[in-house]
Amino acid sequence: MGGLFTKKPLALALADAEKSGVKRVLGPWALIALGIGAVIGAGIFVATGEAAKTRAGPALIVSYVLAGFVCALAALCYAEFAAMTPVSGSAYTYAYTTLGELFAWIIGWDLILEYAVAGAAVATGWSGYFSSFLSLFGLTVPQSLNESPLAYKDGEFVFTSSYINLPAVIIVLILTAILVKGIRESARVNALLVAIKVGAVVFVILVGLWFINPANWTPFAPYGWTGINFFGYEVHGQHTASGAPLGMIAGSAIIFFAYIGFDAVSTQAEEAKNPQRDMPIGIIGSLVICTILYIGVVIVLTGMVKYDQIDEKAGVAEAFSQVGIPWAKALITPAALAGLTSVVLVSLLGSSRVLMAMSRDGLLPRLFSTIHPSLGTPWKGTIAVGVMVALMAGLLPLDALLELTNIGTLFAFAVVCGAVLVMRRTNPDTPRPFRVPLVPFIPILGILCCLLLMLSLPAQNWYRLIGWMALGLAIYCLYGRGHSVVGRQGPPTA
Ligand code: ALA
Repeated sequence: MGGLFTKKPLALALADAEKSGVKRVLGPWALIALGIGAVIGAGIFVATGEAAKTRAGPALIVSYVLAGFVCALAALCYAEFAAMTPVSGSAYTYAYTTLGELFAWIIGWDLILEYAVAGAAVATGWSGYFSSFLSLFGLTVPQSLNESPLAYKDGEFVFTSSYINLPAVIIVLILTAILVKGIRESARVNALLVAIKVGAVVFVILVGLWFINPANWTPFAPYGWTGINFFGYEVHGQHTASGAPLGMIAGSAIIFFAYIGFDAVSTQAEEAKNPQRDMPIGIIGSLVICTILYIGVVIVLTGMVKYDQIDEKAGVAEAFSQVGIPWAKALITPAALAGLTSVVLVSLLGSSRVLMAMSRDGLLPRLFSTIHPSLGTPWKGTIAVGVMVALMAGLLPLDALLELTNIGTLFAFAVVCGAVLVMRRTNPDTPRPFRVPLVPFIPILGILCCLLLMLSLPAQNWYRLIGWMALGLAIYCLYGRGHSVVGRQGPPTA
């Protein structure tokens, strides 16, 4: 059995990818569309209203700039790795080749948390928008089938009168079927959904601009500029009665969810036609486009409606009703639904590709890396992920799912930044089609910024992250360590 810090040789990772059998069909635009597909969703359409109202006020504009900046630092690091190691598995594979098996496991497990739980969270948000959409035609889903049987109140789970969130389950299962069918079909569906939601966001910005009242931006930072705590200990800035941080930086940590997804492009490296060139384009391109659109939306939203009157559940759509153009809601609601659909699609895709990479290395059962002979997709793993996400989406409430994702993503970003530094030392001569500028400054700044945002999240997030990691480590000890392919082959000789 190999050691906990056995590293997977880079050449082995690349050889695994060569024989994996998935089809190389994605060009730069399809990759940018996949990135935007994964990014614009529940964060901007659902979470922004509450964050502006209860965490940051109009300073949420700066929160979005800060979160975009932190993501840009991480995106540069992802781009260097994705071009150098164009292998499914993203940060998991990067950690395996640089920091060793234990770290790789931790990151792989963390990425599953990020993509699968985010997928379930967005499917739950989808269900809410689906109800609004049906209400435009006077239709309703019975309440007993339209909500999770559990609600999350003040950190505790309580039962509701509902049995299952059925629309959330159905959308996850439909998208799973599309993913099993093939990556080319998935990319086409995604491109259509992306066009619709980008259209809606541009509409919000261009129409909303005419309804901005600059007086709504005063006071600009009613909750202050910081909001940092350490496991419940208030380090700087304002806090709620229950100790949750408030302020611009706290707002940035909460809406970080909105940016999650550009990194999912890197999980599709094996399906890219020319990964060395197109991975950096896909990752950085999708992040830049989304950051510009997000900042535009938040400027418009906080300018249209006074921050303390913004609707907490559907701030963007409701803002238009509040300024007297209710018909805009009828346009934004279906487009938001399309937007949320593509986020669920790419989240499912990301989880199944991380599982595929971990399974190929023997850390998880073979099931997750079996490729269908004619469809060319990891179909069993995709179905397993689909069922798991459908169960979470059907049974767990949105807030609990949302809270789990931010901290996991920030953690993964920090590790990828650190891994760039390690790789520059251990493999200085490996060709790097894309290089992070100003090393070590950019990766170190990336790590520090991710830590700052992690410390600006309520303490329960840390406890959940630790709980998820403990479960993962138990599975690693009971299964992964004994079955590891690299571990059984022994440490690399070259
Ligand atoms: N960034 C994705 C969203 O906001 C997860 O829905």
